[in-house]
Amino acid sequence: MTLRWGIVSAGFICADFVNALNTFPEKGDQAVVAVAARDKSKAAEFAKTFNIPKVFDSYEALAKSDDIDIAYIGTLNPYHYELSKLFLENDKHVLCEKPLCLNAKQSESLIKLATKKNRFFMEAVWSRFSPAYLDLEKEIESGKLGEVRLVQGNFGFACESERMFKKEYGGSAVLDIGIYLLQISQYVFKEEPKNVTTVGIRGETDVDISETVILEYSNGKRAVLNIDATLKLDNHTTIYGTKGSYKLHEPFHFPLETTGSDGSLKSFPLHTSSIPYNFGPNSPGLAYQTLEIAKCIRAGKIESPRMSHKETLVLARLMDTVRKQLGVHYDADDKEYP
Ligand SMILES: *[C@@H]1O[C@H](CO)[C@@H](O)[C@H](O)[C@H]1NC(C)=O
Ligand SMILES: *[C@@H]1O[C@H](CO)[C@@H](O)[C@H](O)[C@H]1NC(C)=O
Repeated sequence: MTLRWGIVSAGFICADFVNALNTFPEKGDQAVVAVAARDKSKAAEFAKTFNIPKVFDSYEALAKSDDIDIAYIGTLNPYHYELSKLFLENDKHVLCEKPLCLNAKQSESLIKLATKKNRFFMEAVWSRFSPAYLDLEKEIESGKLGEVRLVQGNFGFACESERMFKKEYGGSAVLDIGIYLLQISQYVFKEEPKNVTTVGIRGETDVDISETVILEYSNGKRAVLNIDATLKLDNHTTIYGTKGSYKLHEPFHFPLETTGSDGSLKSFPLHTSSIPYNFGPNSPGLAYQTLEIAKCIRAGKIESPRMSHKETLVLARLMDTVRKQLGVHYDADDKEYP
């Protein structure tokens, strides 16, 4: 049976997601069948561009319809919680953009709901499904790197988007881009850090804009992560072991090239589309996670072992800690969630 996707919002990331999925040669039996946005004309234009048969002018109507099996939520951060809740409550599976929520309390509440409703639920940490990440994992498991002891990564650019800075949009460098560095460290070390140290600054709007996070793991293993919404960084991440290193090239969060532990350059080309993407050259990679999701749903699973609910909670708690260490507070931090 076709896995029928409904797209929640007609913004930039939704466009890249649909563009990637529509053109993905390996997508199998999946289709984007509906889109909803608050502005119906925007949704209609989006549907026309991407050949989507149905348009809804409210998220509620899409959630209640029998036309879709799974929702892809690509709105601004502050709406992720309410919208994931809406679709789960209406018995839909949900893939929600990262960061899943503004804080760990909200994420915990949604995971409880997904479990109760027995619906698949995942934070769209698409990096985890990158062929380059699979290759890195293979090299680590084969012992080529020896004991991995250090992860060093940079993600930064002089950002101009309000999304990054406005508190009411859930702005925050760690939530917007830092999550990618936190997830690569967690992907490599597979344990919760015993200590987190953040040095950085808040901008004029009182959200974090530039920081270095040091994660300390067992036996002195650590990650040093530079997150920056004010400086252009090289966006590389290197994984250092006692026998060798592995480098994920820019953009490390879904790289097209890596340098293996033997020094060889490896390529991971992606499919193409005649429609241009809004974000980087790696946007076609957004489609890879859907293969895993379709497989999990067909097997009756509510989470993927490659990006589990537990993993989402670890990342959410790390982001809470980084924000706290830099004094960034959201109204949602004062609320309780069921
Ligand atoms: C974490 O690191 C800070 C700063 O170095 C230190 O003050 C604190 O004791 C450490 N906490 C733990 C649990 O090791
Ligand atoms: C790092 O990533 C950002 C965001 O995608 C991009 O604007 C910037 O140019 C990248 N840096 C390099 C050196 O390519």
